[in-house]
Amino acid sequence: MLVLPSHYTDPKKYTDDLCEFIATPLIHQLTGGIHVNDSLIYGAWESLPQDWTRYWSSWTDHRLVQQDLLDSIEDRAKLITTEYNENHEELLQSRPETLVAWLQKLYSLALPRIEREGLLAELPDALTRRMKTKKVAEISKATAYVHDVCQRKEITRVVDMGSGQGYLSVSLAYLFPHLKILAIDGSESQIAGSQEFATSVGVPESRLAHIVHWIDGSSNLAQKIESWADGHKCMLVGLHACGNLSDHMLRYFVSMPCIETLGRDFEKARPHPECHGTDDGLPSPKQLGKARRPTNGNQRRRLYRAILEKVLYDKGITITAEQRPAWGIRKSDMIDFTHFAHRAMECLGINRTEITTEDLKEYEERYRDYEGRIPILWTLSILCCKVVESVIAMDRYWYLEEQGLEKVEVFPIFDSKVSPRNLIVVAQKNKGGSW
Ligand SMILES: C[S@@+](CC[C@H](N)C(=O)[O-])C[C@H]1O[C@@H](n2cnc3c(N)ncnc32)[C@H](O)[C@@H]1O
Repeated sequence: MLVLPSHYTDPKKYTDDLCEFIATPLIHQLTGGIHVNDSLIYGAWESLPQDWTRYWSSWTDHRLVQQDLLDSIEDRAKLITTEYNENHEELLQSRPETLVAWLQKLYSLALPRIEREGLLAELPDALTRRMKTKKVAEISKATAYVHDVCQRKEITRVVDMGSGQGYLSVSLAYLFPHLKILAIDGSESQIAGSQEFATSVGVPESRLAHIVHWIDGSSNLAQKIESWADGHKCMLVGLHACGNLSDHMLRYFVSMPCIETLGRDFEKARPHPECHGTDDGLPSPKQLGKARRPTNGNQRRRLYRAILEKVLYDKGITITAEQRPAWGIRKSDMIDFTHFAHRAMECLGINRTEITTEDLKEYEERYRDYEGRIPILWTLSILCCKVVESVIAMDRYWYLEEQGLEKVEVFPIFDSKVSPRNLIVVAQKNKGGSW
């Protein structure tokens, strides 16, 4: 089952509308066309519709604008009663119609996130001890789901790609001893953590095998998996499969004979080029949750970062990705922009004669009004997360449909309040067994 927004019944029509919306210049700008850090260089605020920016300027506190924007893509019924909205009714009434229409479009084009009812496995302390609350909720749902599919499809082997610390693979092996699990991750340290977890709860290697290997589309890995499968049918799973891991997973699923069923949720990933979207520079959906409470510290830091990029750009100072140090910002660096910039320059090895203190003070003054604008730009890009994720999900859906698979599903598996990234793509190759 493909769970579409309520007013759509036809996946094709939905996909067309989604792609048309994501291809608009505004969405393009907000989802990576202009990274917020570069917003002063490329005039990101000035590129927004003027009636919107005029309207936001009439608010006394930009954090209320951010809250209002974030609320606008939440459940509407809940919002009407909020005290916050009652207090700002007048301002809300004067929202530009084009903004109202845009927010409605964002809201109505995002795939629904209300968790589908499903089984839950009870996890013993031995397993949950290492997990955060979010992980416990995800693993109890995911293990029950994978086990249920395996039972229905008479599958006894599960391949977990990007298995990380082994929360899913160790739990599956621990809870369901008749299953054999293969955990694959490109990171040696992740696999070592998973092996240690398995040993600590008494799961033997005969039930849970580990491989350190990048999921890279190579036939070498495919051979290793086929050899481990030893002629048995497998289910391929991935929890929070990020980056190109998810693309490769789909290809392995389609091309490998031993893999029967796919179940994966996903993190940030690149949409198919034909869908025009890009997530470069887009805050991950995790930030959707974090962004609920705009705080002063973050806002100022975002402004300073954008001014810094503008200064470097104007001075013709190019910093390559390799040169960029991991530099933590201390409280004392936030006294004003000059302190912030001096800290950055020190870390980047930029001499104070190249950018003088007078320059820095002049830039801070010039962009004073942007303190509220940069956070609003961030919030606008965060608002786009759900539609971008919907594009990615539909891209996967159509790819699998085009491969002529027996069944392809996309639905919300986890509680979105706990796991904002809660969509799962499930596919099955052959008939047989109930789903
Ligand atoms: C976000 S973590 C998820 C870990 C685990 N599935 C979970 O949910 O706890 C992604 C994991 O995938 C691994 N990974 C990312 N890309 C990979 C690739 N192309 N090949 C193999 N492992 C990859 C990372 O090392 C990391 O452990």
